[in-house]
Amino acid sequence: MLVIPSRVDLRARPIETERLLLAPIDPADGPELWLSVSGSRTFLQRWLPWVQFHVDPASSTRFAEACANDWDQGRALRFVIRERAHRTLVGVVGLESCIHLHRSCELGYWLRREATHRGLMTEASLAAMDFAFRQMGAHRLRIAAATDNHPSLSVIGRLGFRFEGIARQAEWCDGRWLDHATFALLATDPRGVT
Ligand SMILES: CC(C)(COP(=O)(O)OP(=O)(O)OC[C@H]1O[C@@H](n2cnc3c(N)ncnc32)[C@H](O)[C@@H]1OP(=O)(O)O)[C@@H](O)C(=O)NCCC(=O)NCCS
Repeated sequence: MLVIPSRVDLRARPIETERLLLAPIDPADGPELWLSVSGSRTFLQRWLPWVQFHVDPASSTRFAEACANDWDQGRALRFVIRERAHRTLVGVVGLESCIHLHRSCELGYWLRREATHRGLMTEASLAAMDFAFRQMGAHRLRIAAATDNHPSLSVIGRLGFRFEGIARQAEWCDGRWLDHATFALLATDPRGVT
């Protein structure tokens, strides 16, 4: 079974990396999530089918409430990513679709457009992966990206994931079907470095 660390404890003592803090998403993050998603809507909605559901600040707060509930039920563990220097929310990294019996989950992420091209997602993802393997006892992490989402495929390559195959027309997103390239990493595989 996967271990689910306390959301409240991690909120009080977030994961720290060189430039970032990763804290479990809390309903109090709703307004900043709304500003981040709505401010980068065109950039994000091309790849993320859920963006259309953030229609106002209240919907982002409902999402944050659902995240807290998902964490407490052991379904998905999602973190807001903040820059240590000024605490600005720059994005989200999540350990989604937790399968307790097989000790696996799926990495997902996004950044505000203005926070890209600085290596922040590689840094955040490596910390989330380390958390999954060491704190949760995960055995296998999965990840998928559209076959034409080159920035995400580059991140996946840097993290050390191994290609497994193509899931054809896996998602309906922004008016088109996305083919997904799927990857996985085992706890025993070598990982990427920042
Ligand atoms: C996918 C996504 C998170 C990638 O963001 P990103 O900024 O390209 O990824 P990283 O944070 O790892 O940064 C890598 C870039 O920073 C550069 N960089 C600068 N400093 C760096 C450092 N210290 N370490 C590593 N890379 C660094 C790299 O050279 C690379 O540059 P490039 O974009 O010119 O190739 C972002 O494009 C995004 O949010 N897209 C929309 C949502 C989405 O597609 N989500 C994923 C769905 S599968």
